[in-house]
Amino acid sequence: MISFAPDSGVWLLATPHTSYALRIDETGAPCHLAWGPRLTLAEAEDLVVPPGPETSSFEGRDPVGEELPVDGGTRYGPPSLQVRFADGSRAFEWQPEGHDIEESGPGESVLVLRFRDRRYPLQVSLHYRVRADTDVIERWTVVRNTGDEAVTLLRADSAAWALPPLRDYRLSHVTGQWSAESQLRRDQLPYGETVLTSRRGITSHHANPWVMLDAGEATEDHGRVWSAALAWSGSWRITTQRTPDGRAGFTGGVGHDGTTVPLAPGEEFTTPPFAGVFTEGGFGAVSRAWHAFTLAHVLPHPDEFAPVLYNSWEATGFDVDEVGQKALAERAAELGVELYVVDDGWFGARRNDRAGLGDWTPAPDRFPDGLGPLVDAVHGLGMRFGLWVEPEMVNPDSDLYRTHPDWVLHFPERPRSELRNQLVLNFARSDVADWAYGWLTRLVGEHGIDFLKWDMNRAFSEAGWPGRQDGADRLGPQYVRNLYGVVDRLRADHPALRIESCSGGGGRVDLGILSRTDQAWASDNTDAADRMGIQHGFGQVYPARTMGSWVTDVPNQLTGRTVPLRFRFHVAMAGALGIGGDLTHWSEEELREGAALVAEYKSVRHLVQHGRLDRLSPPAEDAEAVVQYTAADGAETLLLGYRRVSRHGSPKVPVRLRGLTPTARYRDTRTGTVHHAAVLGAYGLHLDLPAGDWASTAVHLVREPEA
Ligand code: DGJ
Repeated sequence: MISFAPDSGVWLLATPHTSYALRIDETGAPCHLAWGPRLTLAEAEDLVVPPGPETSSFEGRDPVGEELPVDGGTRYGPPSLQVRFADGSRAFEWQPEGHDIEESGPGESVLVLRFRDRRYPLQVSLHYRVRADTDVIERWTVVRNTGDEAVTLLRADSAAWALPPLRDYRLSHVTGQWSAESQLRRDQLPYGETVLTSRRGITSHHANPWVMLDAGEATEDHGRVWSAALAWSGSWRITTQRTPDGRAGFTGGVGHDGTTVPLAPGEEFTTPPFAGVFTEGGFGAVSRAWHAFTLAHVLPHPDEFAPVLYNSWEATGFDVDEVGQKALAERAAELGVELYVVDDGWFGARRNDRAGLGDWTPAPDRFPDGLGPLVDAVHGLGMRFGLWVEPEMVNPDSDLYRTHPDWVLHFPERPRSELRNQLVLNFARSDVADWAYGWLTRLVGEHGIDFLKWDMNRAFSEAGWPGRQDGADRLGPQYVRNLYGVVDRLRADHPALRIESCSGGGGRVDLGILSRTDQAWASDNTDAADRMGIQHGFGQVYPARTMGSWVTDVPNQLTGRTVPLRFRFHVAMAGALGIGGDLTHWSEEELREGAALVAEYKSVRHLVQHGRLDRLSPPAEDAEAVVQYTAADGAETLLLGYRRVSRHGSPKVPVRLRGLTPTARYRDTRTGTVHHAAVLGAYGLHLDLPAGDWASTAVHLVREPEA
């Protein structure tokens, strides 16, 4: 999968359908050759061209086309690596020191290119991992200070990715805000530099660390797309650039503008992976490549299905007690729920968002005998028990803050800005991380807790670490590493524990947190219509298995919109189904319909959560939206179809199905009708949506045995 031609100095990384080639140029710098369709090593060597003559004294080296453009020499693009040495010198000069190709696991190999600076004691190694079952290539960088003086990394990106010269470039990414995450944007890539970033200390609702680039011609089903995603849950920055001479590329890594990484003598900085994938199959194929990669190589329990969960937040708010929760749990069990999650409000003085965060003992007035009786009742009803926690936070009105006011992010001479009446605990401090790990592992162990919803409800501010001179610089990366460390230790202590990543909805969804959790809460916005757009953006990179999606009550708390229960279910069934309504107020009819839809979801969730996703028709105000989930072997498929507004006379367009066995016939499990796959694929299926607004359907087709 990784080969090397010593004469030309070309390395070729081969994935099942793509190639990536690079070499070290005459100056010692690692340079990009190819990222695209398959090539042999000999073919890749054709791409080596001798350097052209200098065109003017103003250009310098090409800003796109190096594997990790450094600040140094005649480079004027955005640097991926920017170094300041103790004597004030800047720049890095590449001196190659060799390479290794390691078989790092079954079907998996890693190329390591080793370099050092020509004059200063600094080593840099570039890492590339390829696998036999995915076109995703993971790249990361390790920088090591081998001297006896401090070095500052003003920028230390994971990797830079270069595209071939194209006539035009288009950038796809997501923007958003709280309760409106993952809004897909697809616009022409501007000339110059475009920065996508989070300065909030978390991945953020406002942007997500992935990009897709194409020539402006790719569709859902066709065309070349280059995409990359950063596995990191703190502040981050991806800078795309489009040069006047028609090149484009991007660099990405941890931290935002103005942050630096101090490297003490002997210290090493390992960046998180910045994974990339190329496809010729359009946006649908690139999403499927990310989904398959996440399921196979990111999630800790790839073979499991997300259970149907109930969460009490929208039903009760902070008004949580043993009696009320037991009543909800009984109803949830009748609906077919498998995991019952108690949300915020169960601990300390937490009656609203003004007090109690940090005091993680059950509130005695609400749980007089602790959590034990409720956990037992939930287990007795045949469900798993889950609990909401927000370990990184503290209300100033809490015993924890009164005891440890120095544990929060702050600068001594600055105010401590509160958001949602809370401050951020400095998880970069090992005593704080150890404290969190201590109470969490005790809580989980003592009560047999099966699931944690790990929440994080505010952005950083005054992100200082008094007492350490370089604290503010170390804080960002160390915070995330310690967060990961606490989660990893908890999971090691309690192998059956499953975790949901939440940050006021979808503020912390990325490949880094997904490598140590099982699912994510995609948004606090549970309005089915709004959700369709949020889920469309979420699913561009992250699989439905990870996308928590609840059915809640109407009128929706946030939007005031009322849509039928069935439509709400069908939207939530496109992810990891949950229920968040106040079940004590559901009518007998609603409970019956809900139970039937939960049962239906269970019969098809293997397709939703582990199947291939085809977005047959994207969400739109006045057209049918259809998603299809199909088993890898084509044995079954599920269609979820939605129409928000019914308009007399609008064209009825059949949807053409994908991924079926072309010669087979498929039986509709509800109606018994049998269809030829050839017709479904080439001519399409008319979705039988009921009349009226907010119409939806689920069609499950199963391949007939061969005659
Ligand atoms: C934000 C989460 O996204 C909600 O689901 C809920 O858990 C609240 N926090 C609780 O404070």
